[in-house]
Amino acid sequence: MADCRQEKTHLTTLRIGGLVALMVATGLACSSGTSSGGGTGGKGGSSTTGGATAAGGTSGGASGSGGAGTTSATGGSGGTPNSGGASARTGGTTGLGGTISNGGATGSGDAATDGGGSVGSGGIAGSGGTTVSGGAGGASKGGATGTGGVSVGGTSGGGATGSGGSTLAGGKDGGPSGGNSGGLAGTGGAAGAAGTTGNPSGPPMGWASWNSFAAKINYTVIKGQADAMVSSGLKAAGYQYVNIDEGWWQGTRDSAGNITIDTAEWPGGMQAIADYIHGLGLKAGIYTDAGKDGCGYYYPTGRPAAPGSGSEGHYDQDFLQFSKWGFDFVKVDWCGGSKEGVVAKTAYQAISDSIKKATAQTGRAMVFSVCNWGDANPWDWAPAMSTMWRTSQDIIYYGDAPDMKRVLANFDSAQHATAQSPGHYNDPDMLIVGMSGFSLAQNRTHMALWAISGAPLLAGNKLDSMSAEVKGVLTNSEVLAINQDALAKQGTKVSDSGGLQVYSKVLSGTGRRAVLLLNRSTATATITARFADLGLGATVSVRDIWAATDLGSKTTSYAASVPSNDSVLLMITEGTGP
Ligand code: GLA
Repeated sequence: MADCRQEKTHLTTLRIGGLVALMVATGLACSSGTSSGGGTGGKGGSSTTGGATAAGGTSGGASGSGGAGTTSATGGSGGTPNSGGASARTGGTTGLGGTISNGGATGSGDAATDGGGSVGSGGIAGSGGTTVSGGAGGASKGGATGTGGVSVGGTSGGGATGSGGSTLAGGKDGGPSGGNSGGLAGTGGAAGAAGTTGNPSGPPMGWASWNSFAAKINYTVIKGQADAMVSSGLKAAGYQYVNIDEGWWQGTRDSAGNITIDTAEWPGGMQAIADYIHGLGLKAGIYTDAGKDGCGYYYPTGRPAAPGSGSEGHYDQDFLQFSKWGFDFVKVDWCGGSKEGVVAKTAYQAISDSIKKATAQTGRAMVFSVCNWGDANPWDWAPAMSTMWRTSQDIIYYGDAPDMKRVLANFDSAQHATAQSPGHYNDPDMLIVGMSGFSLAQNRTHMALWAISGAPLLAGNKLDSMSAEVKGVLTNSEVLAINQDALAKQGTKVSDSGGLQVYSKVLSGTGRRAVLLLNRSTATATITARFADLGLGATVSVRDIWAATDLGSKTTSYAASVPSNDSVLLMITEGTGP
């Protein structure tokens, strides 16, 4: 695989000068139903002071019982276990804290604090949680209510319930020999509240600043595009993330290592733009590098080189900061990591861990976009730690014109079907649909390739000035439904005859396939989809998606004439159709 650094070096050598645009990618969650979480922990019982000369209680309190599990389409935040009795008097045992029961997949409980409360751990996606132990009774004196841990919602399924943290009423009869009875059982935690995110079930959809603005971004630019995502109808079609790419930060930190922001460009800091985006009902994305110095240092595009513009050495601090600012998505680039010879899998695992820690603290989940250009085969390890991973170099470089060859090369590089599953996607890079120079046919083929691949859809064109035709390509609901199909399968090539190719994406339901006839030859040609190659029976119904036309019932195969470098996108359904 060619080296992105060399490409970029070539680029900057040849193209310093006029600012144009580049491209970036990242994604967005589409559907809700994202996470489940535990409930809040129960309130502890009240304390009762034991007798003055108490010498300890005899029995512990009963266990707290968990709250009823709930099912929540959007996940829940975890329960808050109470700690147990904090200060048993003589002889009294400290109550054990309730533990959070099943949180969401990505959830992890905080450490409970006082009184020996145990940590609630995030559970597995799915149903309501079982609960756990309440506290054992403090004898002479009830324990103080502890603070609970927070469990963050996870992938899918019902919200779980937090366990009851029990606090214990103290020994009632504290006499000379101490309290007799242990604490009361804690009450179960309430059902978990809806979680903020989890892994999206569909490939992320949104817009990113890199293609059209390179590093020349500020509050006004991002606000304008966020506004346009709403006014253009992209939001209504399902686009959700507004992603700030390279250029927002020039590598500065304060003496404590916190990122500092140029508030002339970002009034109110980065939180203000995240708030603005959220106010539109959208989600916000941000960007950094896995190394010390980011791409803006090695390959400046429209700004002076920015040393220190990476997060190495500050992973926990920076990702917590992004989360606190309100960002729901983070893309982590590889310029510094690559230059320094860092091991990609190790660095991105550490970043993933930092993101999880940040989420546990703030309750805000972040989509993690790995951007190391396919180096070190990320499809082998990134699915376990991220939502999406780049599989190739950039689809366009700063100053270049859109090029169909790059679109096809990036599509080919992303073919790792077994790595993909709901919430985890090969990323062939951001879209260049609608950028100056592409025809309607090229825009449609590009969009169809990303749809059939089940790739993240991050538009990169200027949303405030796109034509109705471009908007039509980006928002075609049948194309988006193919892209967002619940199975999240990547389409695969089922036949190839001298560049006359057929790709098939298995869709949810019975006998449904999205099929792309792609002509990579130099002349118009007939391309035939054989239904047996698609794993279907002999009789199907065929629909041309871009033409929005039902073509009727077909037997054994369907053939269409396709111009050179063009494509036909079909929906093929087994049987004779409705
Ligand atoms: C790399 C990435 C691009 C973009 C630029 C920013 O090239 O692959 O998507 O983020 O850096 O400099």
